[in-house]
Amino acid sequence: MAHVSDLIASDIEQYLALHEKKSLLRFITCGSVDDGKSTLIGRLLYESKMLFDDQLAAIEADSKKWGTQGGDIDFALLVDGLAAEREQGITIDVAYRFFSTDQRKFIVADTPGHEQYTRNMVTGASTADAAVILVDARKGLLTQTRRHSYLVSLIGIRTVVLAVNKMDLVDYDEAVFRRIEDDYRAFAARLGLTDITAIPLSGLKGDNIVEPSARMAWYHGPTLMAFLETCDIDDTRLQAAPLRLPVQWVNRPNLDFRGFCGLLASGTLHPGDRVRVLPSGRESRVARIVAHGGDWPQALAGQSVTVTLEDEIDISRGDLICAAEAPAEVADQFECTVVWMADEPLLPGRPYLLKLGTRTVSATVTEPKYKVNVNTLEHLAAKQLELNEIGVCNIALDRPVAFDAYRDNHDTGGFILIDRVSNNTVGAGMLHFALRRAHNIHLQPLDIDKAARAALKGHKPAVLWFTGLSGAGKSTIANLVEKKLHARGCHSYLLDGDNVRHGLNKDLGFTDVDRVENIRRVAEVAKLMVDAGLIVLTAFISPFRSERALARGLLDEGEFFEIHIDTPLDVAEGRDVKGLYKKARRGELKNFTGIDSPYEAPLSPEIHIDTTALSVEDAADQVVRALIDHGIVAG
Ligand code: ADX
Repeated sequence: MAHVSDLIASDIEQYLALHEKKSLLRFITCGSVDDGKSTLIGRLLYESKMLFDDQLAAIEADSKKWGTQGGDIDFALLVDGLAAEREQGITIDVAYRFFSTDQRKFIVADTPGHEQYTRNMVTGASTADAAVILVDARKGLLTQTRRHSYLVSLIGIRTVVLAVNKMDLVDYDEAVFRRIEDDYRAFAARLGLTDITAIPLSGLKGDNIVEPSARMAWYHGPTLMAFLETCDIDDTRLQAAPLRLPVQWVNRPNLDFRGFCGLLASGTLHPGDRVRVLPSGRESRVARIVAHGGDWPQALAGQSVTVTLEDEIDISRGDLICAAEAPAEVADQFECTVVWMADEPLLPGRPYLLKLGTRTVSATVTEPKYKVNVNTLEHLAAKQLELNEIGVCNIALDRPVAFDAYRDNHDTGGFILIDRVSNNTVGAGMLHFALRRAHNIHLQPLDIDKAARAALKGHKPAVLWFTGLSGAGKSTIANLVEKKLHARGCHSYLLDGDNVRHGLNKDLGFTDVDRVENIRRVAEVAKLMVDAGLIVLTAFISPFRSERALARGLLDEGEFFEIHIDTPLDVAEGRDVKGLYKKARRGELKNFTGIDSPYEAPLSPEIHIDTTALSVEDAADQVVRALIDHGIVAG
């Protein structure tokens, strides 16, 4: 057999030239554990002659060693080397493999079949043009087949191959194949999947992989390889869609040149085209398209370009350049589907970072409208989303972004959610539509502003955010600080956990979800009070870094003072003024902070108070002094 190595050795230039002109198909394979996926992928690599001599020799030797039946080569060995790495704890969640034939180049994303790998599949599938869904001919459709198909439809892959594998084990029986095909088409129709090609094959024996199988003369469709080589690639659809160029960075080497660089997500671009820049809404015309090798007369979806515009308008990273006649929408509240990928659950109300194209903003997700049982497609009620769960939620951003529905454009309608503290990707999502209220509620400009109100008071507004365990001394110290500020003529207000939980927040308990909402509301109220010109003191455990970061983010630079009332658990528990620690230790009070609910201590608070070393009086003085030092109140 001629191998890739022959051509590389004899004429590397020709090899590369051949490759460059070919189109690229990205596809994903999904199947449950024993469907023969590794064998099938191994067979595709083998048939595409992409193996190096040493790989081939190793497989043949291994196959002999393990005595594979009938002298068949064990193609799975090729692929399972990676699986072994996975088992050793080296996380290769999605394995991407590259191969190529005379017609096309291919990248195949291979994702494990277990249920807990939903997130991997979403990752692998997010850029795929087609999905190959494997079914074992002896078993027919399984729960996993349905789940994978649901995910495929959710991610928006339109082209599906139903690969009915192991036909050799059912005597190449057409009836078996047709039954599975019919079952699948009926199910897929419920998901809106219509472009389905069912192929009976055997990865092990090579039937209908590259050559039509003589043992299944009743089948007249394409072989798997023929299908993959000729199926439509989304490029053509993307090129026909309206122009979307998310600006990745602005290139300004000198005063005469301002280029906006990015990857064309959809559409085509020519000098002279009218464009609208979002979210600002300003319009101009394309002056030049600069790419490596000089100016281009045209750029297509999928190409990286730098464009210059005729008018000097303000554009920065994260903006979206659109066709003027078909611009994207701009909004800050949406309905969306979220696929949750983190061990920690998605907490409604918690601020996450949302990355949409090249734009990153802060986002909070509401309680899910429902979550989807991915095996039955049932809608279930849900308070939060756990690892691998999929739900439909509303999402609110801290500022408007340009977007398209995910259905229309995966790049401008698909997003990821990032944890603000760990920086890990925790979710992926698809925008459905902007909520009508996002269009209908506008901020009312007011003439008397924060500065005007503060000016009357003789001090600057600020938030003193006390955080610490229950019984740490937050309320006691905050109370004394307020007395001292009052004596100095400051206008203040103390929001205290136990009090606020009797009124505004009396509907909330102590689950993580409720604590997040508790702090979110308090942070918003504190913001309003700062706007009113007050010095606001808040005394809440506020156990999570994310929500304290949210509170900080609502305020201007220099207005937020995080004050860690640092009392070790054993000391707070020893005081136990309200007797709650004892109750918690007896198991009569669930989710008690420090006992069975976490407290995330501040990493760099503005003020740190060690209550084991300071009296209440000294602690309060330390806070007041800090306010004087920072120019909030006069000395
Ligand atoms: S927070 O975690 O949401 O910030 P918050 O400060 O409002 O808590 O309320 C804490 C107060 O509620 C405690 O001082 C204590 O008196 C009372 N409490 C009742 N149950 C709990 C609990 N499970 N965990 C912590 N505090 C509790």
